Amino acid sequence: MTMPQSPASDALARRYPQIRLPRLTLGSFPTPVERLPITPGGSSLWVKREDLAGQRYGGNKVRKLEYLLAAHQGRPLLTIGASGSHHILATALYGRQVGCPVYGVMAPQPQSPHVDANRALMESLLAGWLDVPTRLLIPWGMVQLRLRLRRQGLPSPVDIPAGGSNPTGCLGWVAGGLEIAEQIQAGLLPEPDQVWLPLGSGGNAAGLLVGLRLAGLSTRVMAVRVVEYPLTSGAAARLLAHRILRLLRAQGVSPPPRFHLGGLEVVNGYIGAGYGHATAAGSAAARRAHAELGLELEGTYTAKTMAACLETLQASPSALTALFLNTANSRPLPSPAPGAP
Ligand SMILES: Cc1ncc(COP(=O)(O)O)c(C=O)c1O
Repeated sequence: MTMPQSPASDALARRYPQIRLPRLTLGSFPTPVERLPITPGGSSLWVKREDLAGQRYGGNKVRKLEYLLAAHQGRPLLTIGASGSHHILATALYGRQVGCPVYGVMAPQPQSPHVDANRALMESLLAGWLDVPTRLLIPWGMVQLRLRLRRQGLPSPVDIPAGGSNPTGCLGWVAGGLEIAEQIQAGLLPEPDQVWLPLGSGGNAAGLLVGLRLAGLSTRVMAVRVVEYPLTSGAAARLLAHRILRLLRAQGVSPPPRFHLGGLEVVNGYIGAGYGHATAAGSAAARRAHAELGLELEGTYTAKTMAACLETLQASPSALTALFLNTANSRPLPSPAPGAP
């Protein structure tokens, strides 16, 4: 087992050294910011390369797992998601690295080579899993899997919610928001009017909102719906942001004067037939991103978000500065784990 290196501080620890919550170093932060060579509707577009967040596997979950896995190091974990879930894959990969066996309950999603590759790697990393025929049966699947582990005399796993989106996991994205503020301060990018990202379970958007506002930035968080209402919603993301803030206050963090948690906008109209279904607009945006921007996007989250971002900027009456969070891993997938079940 490779243990993480000594924990270098993240932007949250740099700003609030009083925080006593454990954190592991799994990724390489700060993730780079780059200006993209297009100006849709006269706006300038920047990208934050979260796809490069981890050496072994990048993407939006690495920050969350630094806090989540530290909180439960050495314990078995049970998490849930779609059959090609980036979250389950990242949790299983980094969980194995820090001695947490990870179990998964998975619901079907439309097939694609990306989903199939994720699934194959996931199966080699998970300690066990159960497939359920629809998302509605995930709670039933969790009970069944727990009963199976009990019958086998195995320890009861800790529940990790979909997307790793509880207040502890979301601290990673509070750090992400503060990291953007540090990069603005260092002159690496101008202060954006908007940050664009997908709205899945809502944890990234909630954590980012808290981080940006703690840094005193009023950048709007443009969260593109990729999961159907009411499984995800702006109200749920805002509630989660308040729960994150409560956790931070309990750690001695005092928000700055005129602090507010406004400015989270849910962008509808890009989900198409549903979660995981490719859309024509998303596929066109992914082709453009590949050809003109050198970015590899996938169909469930990042392609739909780029489509929404480009169309909104193109139609904007005024020129804006926008930052696109490239939230899906772009590293080559690691080889399947040896001794896979
Ligand atoms: C590539 C990618 N982007 C964005 C998200 C959404 O993050 P959240 O579930 O915190 O809204 C996910 C969730 O799994 C993801 O895999």
